[in-house]
Amino acid sequence: MDKFIIKGGNPLNGTIPISGSKNAALPLMAASLLGDSETTITNIPRLKDIYTFNNVLRVSGAHVNFEEEKNTLSIDPTHVNHLEAPYDLVRKMRASFYMLGALVGKHGEAKVSLPGGCAWGPRPVDLHLKGMEAMGINISLEKGYVIAKADKKLKGGTFTLDPSSVGATINLLLASVLRAEKFVIKNAAKEPDVVQLCKVLIKMGADIKGIGTDILTIRGVDSLSGVEIHNDPDRIELGTFMIAGAMHPDSELTLTGCNPEHLGDFTPFFKKTGAKVDIDGDVITVKAPEKIKPVSIKTEVYPGFPTDLQAQWATMMTQADGNSKVTDTVYFDRFSYVPELVRLGADMDVEKNTVRISGKTPLKGASVMSTDLRASVSLVLAALVAENSSEVLRIYHLDRGYESLEQKLQAVGADIKRLDENE
Ligand code: UD1
Repeated sequence: MDKFIIKGGNPLNGTIPISGSKNAALPLMAASLLGDSETTITNIPRLKDIYTFNNVLRVSGAHVNFEEEKNTLSIDPTHVNHLEAPYDLVRKMRASFYMLGALVGKHGEAKVSLPGGCAWGPRPVDLHLKGMEAMGINISLEKGYVIAKADKKLKGGTFTLDPSSVGATINLLLASVLRAEKFVIKNAAKEPDVVQLCKVLIKMGADIKGIGTDILTIRGVDSLSGVEIHNDPDRIELGTFMIAGAMHPDSELTLTGCNPEHLGDFTPFFKKTGAKVDIDGDVITVKAPEKIKPVSIKTEVYPGFPTDLQAQWATMMTQADGNSKVTDTVYFDRFSYVPELVRLGADMDVEKNTVRISGKTPLKGASVMSTDLRASVSLVLAALVAENSSEVLRIYHLDRGYESLEQKLQAVGADIKRLDENE
C-alpha cells in the first residue's frame, strides 16, 4: 500500500492540466455496450476505477483496448455473451451497477451483484430497481445478485426519482433507449455526467427529449451504433485544484482544459471567499486571497454545490478567518474526514449532517488516514498548508479518482512524494 509524505507550507504556482472525468466516463463505457459496433472515447483518465470497469466489460465478453498514453479507450461490444457482473468487481466500484441497465437494455437479460456497503453510509439502489420495474423489466433477487429480464419490447411508463439520483437516471437511460416504447423519468438528475451520456446516446441513434431538464422522455429505437466521442473534463478535480490554489496566500494556479460551466454554483460560492477567479474559455486562473473569508455551504443536486467537493471546502474553511458550516443534504454521513483533520489541528465538529468549523487554526503535520476518495484529497489539501511533514496513509482511494495527483502538485511547487507504507 502506498502513502504520501507531504511537507507543507509551499505556495502553489503554475499550470495544472485538468484530466477527463471519471464519473462522466463510466456511463459512456457502459453505453458502448448498447451499440452494434465499436465505440472509441478520448480523454479517458488513467484511474483505478477505469481499469476496474474495463475488467467488468471484459467479463461480459466485450473487447476493450485502452491506449493509456493517448487516454483513448475502444470498446467493441459485438462479442458480449456473458450477461453478468460478478461481486468481486462490483464491490470494488459501485458504478459497475451500470451493467444492469446496459445488459438488460441490449440483451434483455442481466445478472449483476448488489453493490453492498460504502464508506459513506448507506447508498441504496432501490430507485434503479423500482424504475426498471416501472418500465416493465422483471427484477428478482437471488443470493446477492439482481436478475433482470425483459421482453423484446416493453411498453415503458413513467417513474419519479425521489430523491433525484445520478446513478438511477443513468441506469434507467441505459435500460430504456433500446427497449421501452416510451419511458419518462421525472425528477431526473441534471448533472453534466447525465447530460453528456444523453448527448452520446443521441449520437448513437437514441431518441431522448428534455436533456438537461429534470424530465427525460425516452422513445426506444431498434438499434444504436458505435461512435467516436471526447469525454468531458473532470469538474470535481477542477474544483479541488481551485481550492488548493486558494489555501496559501501566495498561490496562483492556472487550470487548463476545463469546462467552467460544469462548476454550477461552486464558482459564486468560491468567489465569496475572496479568491480571485479569472475565466478565459477553457482556462481558469485562481489567485488566493490574503485572508480567506468564511463561507457556509449546503450541498444540493446540480447546479447546486456538489457533495463531491464538500470535504475539500470544509478543509479550506479551517483556514478561513471565522466560523462556517458545511451541510450535506445529498449524503448525510459523508464526514469521515473530520476526525483526521482534527488530528492535524482543525477545530470542527459534526452534528447530524452539518460540520461546524472554527477558523483559522494552524495545522500541524501528523499521520492521517484516507477513508474514501474525496476525504483523502482533503487530507492532502490540509497537509499542503500544515507545518512540517504529514503522512497520508491508504492513498489507494485517491488513485481511484485523481490522475497523477502528486505529479500535478509537484509541478506547481508542492513537496509531496509517494512511498510504500512500510518505508
Ligand atoms: C454519483 C457519483 C458520486 C456523487 C453522487 C452525487 C458516480 C460514479 N458517483 O453517485 O461521486 O457523490 O452521484 O452527486 O458518478 N439514492 C436512493 N436510492 C437509489 C439511489 C440513490 O435513495 O436507488 C439516494 C442516495 O442515497 C443519495 C441520493 O439518492 O442520498 C443521490 O445519490 P446518487 O445521485 O444516486 O449518487 P450516485 O449515482 O451513487
